[in-house]
Amino acid sequence: MYRYGSEIACIAVIKSSKVNFTLASSHCEQMGANLVSVKTLDKLQMLIEILGDSTNFWVGLDDMVEEGTYVWREDGQVAFKINATYSSRQMAEVAMNGLWDHPREPNNYADNEDCIQLKQSTTHGELRLNDYKCFTRSKFICEERIRFV
Ligand SMILES: *[C@@H]1O[C@H](CO)[C@@H](O)[C@H](O)[C@H]1NC(C)=O
Ligand SMILES: *[C@@H]1O[C@H](CO)[C@@H](O)[C@H](O)[C@H]1NC(C)=O
Repeated sequence: MYRYGSEIACIAVIKSSKVNFTLASSHCEQMGANLVSVKTLDKLQMLIEILGDSTNFWVGLDDMVEEGTYVWREDGQVAFKINATYSSRQMAEVAMNGLWDHPREPNNYADNEDCIQLKQSTTHGELRLNDYKCFTRSKFICEERIRFV
């Protein structure tokens, strides 16, 4: 159980079974949780402390429904939309406050990357967001948020 800002959350890091994005998402839902949100650098830092040198974990962000529109699984909030004025990379970096593995990601490589992972970034020397193929079997992170009342 971790605390960040005014919220606490139960975080489950699942390393034992590697599954594709949709299965990872439904495993979390079966626990009454969601794939983890990583909306702030503070939250990213918390996960970096938990995960250390491990890499490639599904998180709760994808653009499966509409290419270039990235939606958080937790609450359906749009993280950002790729925008015609800025390049997708610029847009991601602006919209997501440096959470992506900048400057390369998200790149929708081979027009086939709609699901987001945390991976070790060579640019940053620690975990950052990266888009990847949804069918890839990976470790994943579930989160159940508990808000203070
Ligand atoms: C693209 O993003 C820039 C910077 O946020 C903004 O000024 C512009 O209005 C956006 N363009 C569209 C088409 O949404
Ligand atoms: C994940 O695996 C399940 C079970 O094999 C399959 O039904 C589903 O289509 C897969 N999802 C993706 C995104 O590959």
